[in-house]
Amino acid sequence: MIGRLNHVAIVVPDLAAAAQMYKTSLGAKVTAPEPLPDHGVTTVFVELPNTKIELLHPLGEDSPVQKFLDNNPSGGMHHVCYEVEDIHAAIAHLVDEGARVLGDGQPKTGAHGLPVVFLHPKDFCGTLVELEEVKAA
Ligand code: CO
Repeated sequence: MIGRLNHVAIVVPDLAAAAQMYKTSLGAKVTAPEPLPDHGVTTVFVELPNTKIELLHPLGEDSPVQKFLDNNPSGGMHHVCYEVEDIHAAIAHLVDEGARVLGDGQPKTGAHGLPVVFLHPKDFCGTLVELEEVKAA
């Protein structure tokens, strides 16, 4: 069911410094910061030949990543995102398998303007999993 690894997300305490570090020290291509108020985060994407790294920083009062940053002040790996072709079929299959979909269980629009859902880390070896619907080209 899952396809390509779309991105690995890392929560960072200083978005500009993290973007600069990826650009300068690691020599990667980075995008401009994009605020996503619906998700309570600002993102920068590091574009690699085979996948992306999503740098996340809290945005607004009740950001879902603020607690993570409080617990991990120097930042840390937050989630992995796998591509699926049909997100509603994927959700139905996962619910059938007993996995928990976070929030109201319905897809939201994610960082790439595509439907996304998050799955409970306790159902996936302690890893927060994001699924993003990416139609085959
Ligand atoms: Co993500």
